[in-house]
Amino acid sequence: MPPVYNDKKIDRRTLETIIDSANYAPTHKLTQPWHFVVFIGDSLKELGGEMAKLYKHHTPAEKFSERKMTDMEQKPAKSAAVIAIIMESHPNLLPEWEEIASTAAAVENMWLMATALGIGSYWSTPGLIHHLSPFLGLPDNQRCIGLFYMGYTDVDLPASKREDISTKVQWRE
Ligand SMILES: Cc1cc2nc3c(=O)[nH]c(=O)nc-3n(C[C@H](O)[C@H](O)[C@H](O)COP(=O)(O)O)c2cc1C
Repeated sequence: MPPVYNDKKIDRRTLETIIDSANYAPTHKLTQPWHFVVFIGDSLKELGGEMAKLYKHHTPAEKFSERKMTDMEQKPAKSAAVIAIIMESHPNLLPEWEEIASTAAAVENMWLMATALGIGSYWSTPGLIHHLSPFLGLPDNQRCIGLFYMGYTDVDLPASKREDISTKVQWRE
């Protein structure tokens, strides 16, 4: 996650390799619903500024936290790249959940590729994410379903906590 990312940039070809892996996700009726807006360089600050602006505008006074706003503003700039995850609906062809599932599979492909290349990733879904559409320039049939924060890190990340897979699987013979 951004607080543990170091300053090392991700070169463009590496990012393209990661993004290309998304394109192999499964897709019902070949709708290929995944779209991405990639923030690198100076645009990371612009994204942080927009997140802070949206937070300030849409958070009721009694819930507003200056610390949270600063955190939202700084998170993109602490990352080497942020990819806005966008899902495109095709309501005449498929239920939306299938497009979300397909886009999530595309993200998992990127996540695995990034991990294999030594890059940390983190999918974040702040409540105000749906307000990002104008900033991202999305048409009506597209929706942002997350921000994918990426960066290199010098720290050993804690092992993922998971229940044993056997608790989730029924075998029938
Ligand atoms: C759809 C989706 C949305 C997520 N949204 C958030 C979020 O808003 N905030 C957060 O802290 N983690 C969120 N996560 C979890 C992180 O991306 C990440 O998987 C987790 O913190 C790392 O734990 P792990 O190493 O055990 O996977 C989300 C994950 C998914 C799949």
